[in-house]
Amino acid sequence: MPLITWNARMSIGVDKFDEEHKKLVGMLNELLDAMQAGRGNEILGSILDELIEYTAVHFKHEEDDMDVYRYPKAAEHKQQHAELCKQVVEVQAKFKGGASATLSFEVLHFLKDWLIKHIQGSDKKFGAFLVEQQKKAS
Ligand SMILES: [Fe+2]
Ligand SMILES: [Fe+2]
Repeated sequence: MPLITWNARMSIGVDKFDEEHKKLVGMLNELLDAMQAGRGNEILGSILDELIEYTAVHFKHEEDDMDVYRYPKAAEHKQQHAELCKQVVEVQAKFKGGASATLSFEVLHFLKDWLIKHIQGSDKKFGAFLVEQQKKAS
């Protein structure tokens, strides 16, 4: 599975969130890389933990701004974040539970698709809203 390459279409027009998205993409690539290189579960597990942790931090940053600027679509957007958090925690639990103790490419594929779709869809709409609000405020 190819790594994700950052491109201009992924920009949501807000630098701080673009930087966070780049970091998320980088972490996902790191995980893919480690899997393709056949790294051990311990390493995969710790990269997965970091990715999950940073995802939560990033979601919180977006959601804080949604609250500050009273984003009308906040509920829907937060719901998407919550869904993903729930799913990745399940993935993490399965992985740690060691039922099969493997992280599948299918799971990574899902994460990758979700991230790109979310950034280019919901986050982009939110980004446009933020840019608009900041223009009004200046
Ligand atoms: Fe985001
Ligand atoms: Fe988001």
